[in-house]
Amino acid sequence: MAIWNLGSINADMVYSLPHFPAAGETLAATGFDRFLGGKGANMSVAAARAGSHVAHIGAVGADGSWSIRRLMEYGVDTRHIVQVPEPTGQALVFVDPTGENQIVILPGANRAIPETAIQAALAEAAAGDTLLIQNETNAQAMAARIGRDLGLRVAYAAAPFEATAVLAVLAFLDLLILNEIEAQQLQQATGQAPEALRVRDVIVTLGARGARHIDTGTGEIRDYPAIPVTPVDTTGAGDTFTGYVLAGLDRGMALPQAISQAMRAAAIMVTRHGTADVIPDLRDVQESRLG
Ligand code: RIB
Ligand code: NA
Repeated sequence: MAIWNLGSINADMVYSLPHFPAAGETLAATGFDRFLGGKGANMSVAAARAGSHVAHIGAVGADGSWSIRRLMEYGVDTRHIVQVPEPTGQALVFVDPTGENQIVILPGANRAIPETAIQAALAEAAAGDTLLIQNETNAQAMAARIGRDLGLRVAYAAAPFEATAVLAVLAFLDLLILNEIEAQQLQQATGQAPEALRVRDVIVTLGARGARHIDTGTGEIRDYPAIPVTPVDTTGAGDTFTGYVLAGLDRGMALPQAISQAMRAAAIMVTRHGTADVIPDLRDVQESRLG
């Protein structure tokens, strides 16, 4: 089986700060690093490191060859990443001493993925494969519709939250992954609690309080306790969780096992500074003493 990930690719400019700046404040950073990032790229790398075949569908600018090379080095199939006139996406990431972040993205090429490139990629997909989408690209709804028609498992991470984008894909989803704030925003946008949605499986991540899986078919709710760690940098932990959940399912694991493994991967990610470049592989996850 394979995972087809329509996803963003960013150059992450990461500033370590003594605290987040207030309006009008000028602040000296205590550190600066560049990483490969973008929620899409992070999810692709996570799923590849978890052992899945991942084909990334996306776009970068003429300045983005480095990101394609790096994804390839990390085991991601990059044949469906195209280069477009818009610049490669960028993210300005602030990280404070508690590991929390603030992120500003400049979408660039991520919102200019040619629909023909998406269609050409998905023409290679087979029933039983997974299609993953999130909100940092264009054409999520078109891709979701194609995915549903092809009999793919259509999974969606509702990040960053955008009501119109969510409403456009909701009817095509098998699996929805969102955090607590996004769950509240979704409830406001749809007037429905997650358990009332017509999406078979909904996973709500609860940060330091773990995660909740809602099987809307049976009505069963299962809570997963958090794995306690001292956070260094929470950036990319949610993306790592999503990539690992999908890789687990893709590789035949039952959802509870996939979620448990993904929680361990995300916990490790919280202890590492950086994004795609530092996502743990399956061996790190299996050998870690966490939880
Ligand atoms: O979720 C973390 C990611 O959000 C970063 O890698 C950044 O690029 C933004 O897309
Ligand atoms: Na991190």
